[in-house]
Amino acid sequence: MDAESSLGGYGRATTVAHPNIALAKYWGKRSGSGNYPAVPSLSVTLAGLATRTTVEFDPALTADELVLDGVRASGTPLERAAALLDRVRSSASRPAFARVTSANDFPTASGLASSASGFAALALAASRAAGLAWTTERVSDLARRASASAARSLFGGFVELEAGPEAPVGDEYLCAKQVADAAHLDLVVLVCVTTNEPKTVSSTAGMLSTQRRSPYYAAWREDAALLHAGIREALQKRDFYMVGELSEASALAMHACAMAAGVIYVSGATLEVLARVRDLRASGLGVYATMDAGPHVKVLVSGPDAARAKRELEVLPSICKILEARPGEGARLSGEDQ
Ligand code: DP6
Repeated sequence: MDAESSLGGYGRATTVAHPNIALAKYWGKRSGSGNYPAVPSLSVTLAGLATRTTVEFDPALTADELVLDGVRASGTPLERAAALLDRVRSSASRPAFARVTSANDFPTASGLASSASGFAALALAASRAAGLAWTTERVSDLARRASASAARSLFGGFVELEAGPEAPVGDEYLCAKQVADAAHLDLVVLVCVTTNEPKTVSSTAGMLSTQRRSPYYAAWREDAALLHAGIREALQKRDFYMVGELSEASALAMHACAMAAGVIYVSGATLEVLARVRDLRASGLGVYATMDAGPHVKVLVSGPDAARAKRELEVLPSICKILEARPGEGARLSGEDQ
């Protein structure tokens, strides 16, 4: 164990983390182990939607336990959580299994990155409950190994994650970092939920198929780096319109690349919302769209235009509901157990 980084003793910790939406998309991994992104990404952490997670190490347990939104989990979700807990255990002095309970206060099928907020909350809760006084950067590296987008939810506001090393062996350190705080840009994200069905192809599986089969994957990788640099610069200049335009371009490039590999996340409803966003833009309203590994559309709009954009969008029959979010804080201890 890292003696100076131990708080000593096992216990329990409860944390809160928010989902994030990538403006510059992460899509593609470096080969080899360690879950390193092949492209740099830049996201905004969203207030108003939260995952709350409690981790309790208990020497009486014979295996890790995970309860997600009140339901006992098994299979892949439990295996991914246990792999993260194993990494924490290997740095702490007395290994014990853990009881993890995690709940989202937003609909799980909303298409928001619940794995990002989930693994960010889990990484922070597990390291604290194990008595490890790790920096936020180190916890972000831990979260990245479980799900790369989760590394970004450790931080608030606008956050980037660089691409990993060209040929990683797995022990290289890579964490996200804040580019600008939540107040930097007056941005509202209107999450337009287009279905209540869960997605059929996970991000991990979709991006691996894309890199294996898409004829456009090399082009995407080049474009993604340029789009990331452009979004970063536009953000630094507080140029909402350029941020929006390049974010939409990043989403469309990612989806075009995936689609060429037969990985299709968009639905008719997605395209209908996208068309409406473009019509509204042609009529002078500054709205831009981005989509992740699902059919929902996240509309980016500046604060003063948000109410009008929401009114214009909510009449569309293809939208089930609209959740409104703003830039928010990074993952933190909830205070309940401290
Ligand atoms: C489309 O972080 O879920 O949301 O690292 O395999 O867990 P893994 O993938 P994940 O992928 C997120 C993909 C995305 C874009 C993004 O958030 O950057």
